[in-house]
Amino acid sequence: MALIERHPDVEDYILEMSLPQIAARGGVADLIEEGKMVLIKDYRLDVDFAALGELEKSTAAIGDRQLRRQIKKLEAPQFFDGPKPRRWGRVRLDDPLRQALFDVMCRRDRKLFSRAADALRHAHDEALRLFDVCLSGYDPFRLVPSVRLTRTLFENLHWDDHSIDEDFHQARIFANLDSRPRIWHVSHRITDMMRQLYDQHDLGRFAGRDPNEMLFYINSQVLGGSSNKWMDQAPRHRIAFDPGEVWLGESRLIAHQIYYGESALVYMWFVRAASMVDPARRFNAQVEAVHGEMRQRDAAGDR
Ligand SMILES: [Fe+2]
Repeated sequence: MALIERHPDVEDYILEMSLPQIAARGGVADLIEEGKMVLIKDYRLDVDFAALGELEKSTAAIGDRQLRRQIKKLEAPQFFDGPKPRRWGRVRLDDPLRQALFDVMCRRDRKLFSRAADALRHAHDEALRLFDVCLSGYDPFRLVPSVRLTRTLFENLHWDDHSIDEDFHQARIFANLDSRPRIWHVSHRITDMMRQLYDQHDLGRFAGRDPNEMLFYINSQVLGGSSNKWMDQAPRHRIAFDPGEVWLGESRLIAHQIYYGESALVYMWFVRAASMVDPARRFNAQVEAVHGEMRQRDAAGDR
């Protein structure tokens, strides 16, 4: 089980439910849309943690900047789709990204490449199965199947800003692919934070605009972004996810901070709002609803 320390000043929106419980209630899409975080109880991804743990964690030896960036934001099929390194003679992979995975991340170890590719293929298949069980009914139009194979330490608290103007719903499944705990801190939901900051930071100026502009302002100017990490004084729950543990949540609604983690699966589906349990709960609409609530409060002279 994950170790969870709940902070009394942050709403307790963390739920733990087993897969049979989730299946019996027809999934957890309604809870995710409300801004809950759901940990799948008594479930562990059964992957070859040792193989993923043996991968090189630093991309420093890769000369090409673009390739380094691609490996940091690697998509699982880029590892397992395509030929594996050949047994004899020269290693010829089909593209520079996979060649760099082999040369640097696998240190030219053919067996390790194979094991890591199989582990990621299995994790990928499981993530798709879990999507069907947990988020049945959703109609996704795009999947970004990211895996993080490099170490993450001390992120600043933030709400995800995808810099995508589109008014879509996001469904995310996360899994710890490492044999050590993955440590997250989570804090207020964006709607609660907006209410707290609204007057002091004149958030009304963002009404009717792309909500990413407001997220960017709060993440960088209020929480300090990556340059002034200590500006963020928000209370937070602390969670240590077990190896193989899986959880779901809307990372634009829930403030989060990866404090420590090695390998992880971070899958994001773009979902058509019409297929939501309640389309009015899509991110853009929730943000706009708080602006509306504040306008009403001001009109009522309640400020
Ligand atoms: Fe994030």
